[in-house]
Amino acid sequence: MDFGFRVTALDKTFGAIIDDINVTALDDVQFQHVYDLWLDYALLIFPRQNLTPDEQQKFASRFGALVEGLEAVEISNVLADGTLRTAADDDMMKIIRGNMAWHQDNTYMPLQAKGAVFSAQQIPRTGGDTAFADMRAAWQALPEEQKQRLSGLSAYHSLAHSQKQLGEETKESDSEYIGYGLDVENIPLRKLMKLHPETQQPSLAVGRHAFGIPGLETDESQALLDQLINFATADEARVYQHQWRVGDAVIWDNRCLMHRACDWNFSEPRVMFHSRIAGDPLTEAALN
Ligand SMILES: [Fe+2]
Repeated sequence: MDFGFRVTALDKTFGAIIDDINVTALDDVQFQHVYDLWLDYALLIFPRQNLTPDEQQKFASRFGALVEGLEAVEISNVLADGTLRTAADDDMMKIIRGNMAWHQDNTYMPLQAKGAVFSAQQIPRTGGDTAFADMRAAWQALPEEQKQRLSGLSAYHSLAHSQKQLGEETKESDSEYIGYGLDVENIPLRKLMKLHPETQQPSLAVGRHAFGIPGLETDESQALLDQLINFATADEARVYQHQWRVGDAVIWDNRCLMHRACDWNFSEPRVMFHSRIAGDPLTEAALN
């Protein structure tokens, strides 16, 4: 069936570029096809959509209910008055720098996120890419005996912990994105093998928020988690780094990909809009 748009798979284990599409104007049949492609590819890139925050929010919400407060939140190094965030203790910059380490969104919350739509409003001359890693392919590539061992393990996930670990401790602010997720009382415990609720594919569930595997010593746990992140991202076929152009939008499946922000010169503005899709309580809830 011809849906009117062109799908080009990346030369990777995941990801596809969708051209000749206007994501604000999809009928239900077209949208269902996009949704199915998303499940297959885990990352869809829609070049030059130039979405307004409202349009982005509407598109994202077709994939599922959005996380309250993160319907179309600006993630940027620009303050409301138009000047750049230059203060050494700026909490938004601490979170942005923290997110330059591999992670999955909301694993530190009672509900891990289902996915996110992310778009570029303003980009620096160089850098500021977003990188993604296919954790389904990473799981598949693990030796059988390690799969078996990891299947029985879990880890705690905490944003406060991971920010501290990176030397980017943030205040428990009550404003917008900055303080989000820092005051979780019952620290979520999650399995190292996540079964995708819709495709049933297993993936490796690690990332910067993970720590403290029950049953292991602190050092041993950290070494294993670091080793798994390094393993997952060591093979270029499992990693894609998106070089943004203004107006590009992507949607990633947060249940099977890790992602990270890439560095840029902070004296140049970078303005992104992020819409976070809530996880299903049946399948994205923590074990505890
Ligand atoms: Fe993120």
